[in-house]
Parts: sequence; structure tokens; C-alpha cells
Amino acid sequence: MVISSLKLVESDLLRVEEQLVTLLEKRGGVLKGPAEMMFRGGGKRLRPALVLLSCRLFGPQPESAISIAAAVEMVHGASLIHDDVIDDTDLRRGQPTMKALSGNRIAVLLGDLLLCQALLAVAELDRVVLVQVVSQAVADMTAGQILELRQQGNVETQVADYLRMIEGKTAALMEAGCRLGALLTGATPAEVEACGQFGLNLGMAFQISDDVLDIWGDPDKLGKPTGSDLRERKYTLPFLYAYQQSLKPQRNLVRQLLTQESLEPGAMQALVQWMDQNHSREHAIELAEKYVQQARAALRQTPDGPTRTTLEELLDYVVNREH
Ligand code: IPE
Ligand code: IPE
Ligand code: MG
Ligand code: MG
Ligand code: MG
Repeated sequence: MVISSLKLVESDLLRVEEQLVTLLEKRGGVLKGPAEMMFRGGGKRLRPALVLLSCRLFGPQPESAISIAAAVEMVHGASLIHDDVIDDTDLRRGQPTMKALSGNRIAVLLGDLLLCQALLAVAELDRVVLVQVVSQAVADMTAGQILELRQQGNVETQVADYLRMIEGKTAALMEAGCRLGALLTGATPAEVEACGQFGLNLGMAFQISDDVLDIWGDPDKLGKPTGSDLRERKYTLPFLYAYQQSLKPQRNLVRQLLTQESLEPGAMQALVQWMDQNHSREHAIELAEKYVQQARAALRQTPDGPTRTTLEELLDYVVNREH
């Protein structure tokens, strides 16, 4: 168990793992090898946990929750496979990425295949609304990644654009996971909405913290390289804060450093130092905490009990995590 506050759903998460293997085996040879490997190692399983917990907030968890949770993790897995192509990353969950193992072309197709398998698994429940929620998330995630690519290399990116981008690429799936869970136990429309808001805000905080960890985190703990956002000229919140607070000479210096094709360790260090001087890490965490507060407020509209307590604990984890 990577996240200790998930003890409550530990045994169900093991069932999700089994379900994942079953779903992957449906495509026999194609998905089995490399994709299975992707799911075997190191993921936190945060999204399936969100499905299960949101479901349990409102009543006994139906059997279908396991396959929905697995489907949501498959959507996440597909998005990671695609993301590693887009970001040109060779290591994830402490293992070589699909693109590193099989090349970009296979990785793109495997991601597509996983995505469709996930949608088919959701469709099996014969409830249009569930398919709509997942499809909406996939659309938002894709749009978020496109927005990110459009802003790549633009040091003048506005914080509002950054927030729109992370809402799509990351928060949308967490929102969907929470909505799906609530929909499975017949929560009222207001309760489904509250769960969605919880997931959305948690997702915003989660991605801000991912972006902080990409600069100040430990690659061994993360299982993926750090510094990749800057290397790829993806200017995340800490960078944007520092840039917006800097005066012209400092901005020119930063842009000068960024003209290096591949950032040397010295340049990377100088950029991190510049962000430190501008208290970028603190600013970013402060904003993440605002989202956490909004998530907490949404959660208060759901029934009190041990499940809600676990979800509250997850919120603390999101901003304090090292992995
Ligand atoms: C990685 O998500 C992609 C982001 C949205 C930052 P996770 O950090 O949840 O990745 P795994 O599933 O634990 O590997
Ligand atoms: C999250 O952004 C991408 C997805 C939601 C798939 P990142 O590109 O920062 O994720 P990591 O850091 O590679 O996991
Ligand atoms: Mg990436
Ligand atoms: Mg990315
Ligand atoms: Mg990242």
C-alpha cells in the first residue's frame, strides 16, 4: 500500500488489480506483455481508490464498483503511456516506459487500445451516464494535454491558462472517478455534484504538487525523472510565479539560460535557485492548499463516517506527499 490512508479499501484494491489483469487479458497477446507490466509496478492507485471511497460514502459498495475502478485506472494508465510519448520520458513507476520499451508508435496504439478497453468495460454496465462521465473525462484530458503543448515554450503563459490545462489533463479524471463512485450507490444529484467537486479540487492540488515534485522532489522516491518539465520547456506554476515576479534583467537572464538546447546541470541549478529566491515552492503549495480547502468544503456535503475521514486524510496526503 503506497498511500497509508487507503487501508480502508486495501482488500478491494487487490480485487481491482485482479480485474485489471482480466481486462488486459481480453486482448490476449497485444495488451498482455507490456501493458501488464505497466500495471504491475508502483502506481499509487489513487483513482480507483477514489471510485471505491466515493461509492462507499453513500452505501454498500456494489460489485460493479471494482470494474469501474479498474476501468478508471486503465484510462489513467493509457494517459500515462501517451504522456510519456508526449514528454519523451523513459522512466515511470521505477520502470522503463512503454515508449522506451516499444517505441512511440506502439505506445500510441497501446494507449488507444487500453482506452477503448476501459470504455468497453464501463459500457458493460449498461448505464449511459457512466459512459458519458468517463468519455467526458477522456475528452477533457486530451484537450488539457493539447493546451499544454500549445503553451510549451511560452514563458509568458498565464496562471489561468496553466490552471485550465491541469484541470483538463489531471483533475478531470479524478472528478470523474468520484462522480462514478457516487453514481453507483444512488447518491442524490447534489451528492454526485459534491463528490465531483471534491475530486476536481483534489486533482488540481495533486497536479500542482506533481509539478512541485518535478522541481524539488527525489527521483528515486517518485520512480520518474525530475526536471523534465523544464527540460521540455513546460512552464509550470512555480516557474510562472517566479517569472511574473521578476524584473526585466532577471527575465532576460532566465530566457538566456533557456536558449540552451539541453539544459546543463548548472543552468538547471540556476533556474531552481531563481525559483527559490522567489519563494515559488511556497506560493505553489499555498495555491494547492486552497484547492484542498475547497475539496474539504465539498466533502462536508456528504455523509459523515469513516469513509469521509479517509477521503479527508487523502487531502492531507496530496499536499505533503513525496511520491
Ligand atoms: C501521474 O499520476 C500523472 C499525474 C497526473 C501527475 P500519479 O502520480 O497518480 O501516477 P501513478 O499512478 O502513481 O504512477
Ligand atoms: C500529467 O502531467 C499527465 C497526465 C495526466 C497523463 P505530467 O506530464 O506532469 O505527469 P508525469 O509527471 O509525467 O507523471
Ligand atoms: Mg509527463
Ligand atoms: Mg505531461
Ligand atoms: Mg509531472
